[in-house]
Amino acid sequence: MREVVHATETPAGAIRLVGLVAGEPTDSLPIAPATLERLGFTGDVGSVVLVGGDEDSVAVLGLGDVAGADELRQACGAAARVVPAGSEVATSLHTLDFEGALAAVVDGFLAGSYRYEDYRSGDSDTPGRLVLVGDEPSGLDDLRVVMQAVEVARDWVNRPPRDKAPAALAAEMSDELQAAGYETEVWEEGRIEDEGLGGLLGVAAGSDRPPRLLVARQPAPGRPHLALVGKGIVFDSGGLSIKTSEGMETMKVDMAGGAAVAAAASAIGRLDIDLAVSVFVPLTDNMPGGSAQKPGDVVRIRNGKTVEVLNTDAEGRLVLADALALAAEAGPDLIVDAATLTGAARVALGPHIAAVFAVADAARERCLAAAERAGERVWPFPLPSDHRKLIDSGVADMKNTGGKFGGAIAAALLLAEFVDDVPWVHLDIAGPAWLLENGPLGPKGGSGFGVRTMVEIAADLAGDRV
Ligand code: BES
Ligand code: MN
Ligand code: ZN
Repeated sequence: MREVVHATETPAGAIRLVGLVAGEPTDSLPIAPATLERLGFTGDVGSVVLVGGDEDSVAVLGLGDVAGADELRQACGAAARVVPAGSEVATSLHTLDFEGALAAVVDGFLAGSYRYEDYRSGDSDTPGRLVLVGDEPSGLDDLRVVMQAVEVARDWVNRPPRDKAPAALAAEMSDELQAAGYETEVWEEGRIEDEGLGGLLGVAAGSDRPPRLLVARQPAPGRPHLALVGKGIVFDSGGLSIKTSEGMETMKVDMAGGAAVAAAASAIGRLDIDLAVSVFVPLTDNMPGGSAQKPGDVVRIRNGKTVEVLNTDAEGRLVLADALALAAEAGPDLIVDAATLTGAARVALGPHIAAVFAVADAARERCLAAAERAGERVWPFPLPSDHRKLIDSGVADMKNTGGKFGGAIAAALLLAEFVDDVPWVHLDIAGPAWLLENGPLGPKGGSGFGVRTMVEIAADLAGDRV
């Protein structure tokens, strides 16, 4: 990860980031407003102009009409994308007088300067480091831990599917979590069968690569207990209900929920947030091999309920059903799941906002407030119990599709069948898990969405908000 350090003065040669709010005085700028305009600067959030020479260069950042945390995050991300490789960037924008300014500057810079270069030859084009100029900021170490976790999640998502076989990814997640202080287990096929995870086995049947279930625990007797569950489809071809080639192009993203959950848990451990944590990530391909499950097949989930599989492309809910049932058995105070679950959520909210579902208002409110503090964009969806008939099946307890409309709701209603009475929040991150194009928060590809919200939820549940 790029370094973020603190200094009392701007280092010589650093590019200074300066923000500009519409209507505010411009006399401190080293460049006339008219010149800025001629260079294409609009003042909008994300608009950046780099001026000056080797000795004193300045990046002028548009902050829009009113600078808040969102604006600052986007502006610092946009700046990180235009500064030259290896350059040192200095700013005191983190001292702006509002809640979350430091986090916004650090998150924005680190997100915008993220690159995925494991499969690229040639030199790296990432900026060098960020220098925060002013008094020593408090909380910087914690921010670094969280942003490191966001990068781990992004790297996992961006990795090509061949190189993240369920067994390999489970082992890596397990290593990451052990290093963060967790006890971990990786269940292989035999154990998955013995434990009755029929949803996971059904989805895995069409692939030559065997499934895995990652289980991790941070015990903390007498403390609140958070269970995290993430969808870990390492590649979603749709199975026999096969997707179009275009629909498959980005389907290595389909383990983004699992990646976010494992990375968030890692950060929670490293931050010493004092609560018990249980993590469950079911990992498998969804492929149309000769032994693949077929439309019409029925699977039996961990808690004994049966699901008729009418569309093998609605596979996420099958693997999550098993994992949620396991999570509920662990008796936590709250279950949070994250999943790239439905195209419908993405159609409804677009590529930057996640859908939040919960049965209990308190759980949903907790999540909405945490996301707000984390700077991640989410929006509540309803879970109307009279819509349960959408997933009634003629042969099993339910079916895995819900018809043409309200697809994100039908999926969430199925998940709700597996959490017992445990308070539960479901994040459908099908939109924001993947950046469709290069932008202020980084290049096209995995975004690491969800990590920061889940860390905030953990801190809130433990009673020590960061
Ligand atoms: N992984 C997809 C959902 C998805 C779509 C994630 C686009 C990210 C971007 C999921 O498994 C899926 O295929 N869902 C189907 C469900 C349908 C068959 C009921 C969908 O949304 O079309
Ligand atoms: Mn699918
Ligand atoms: Zn999927």
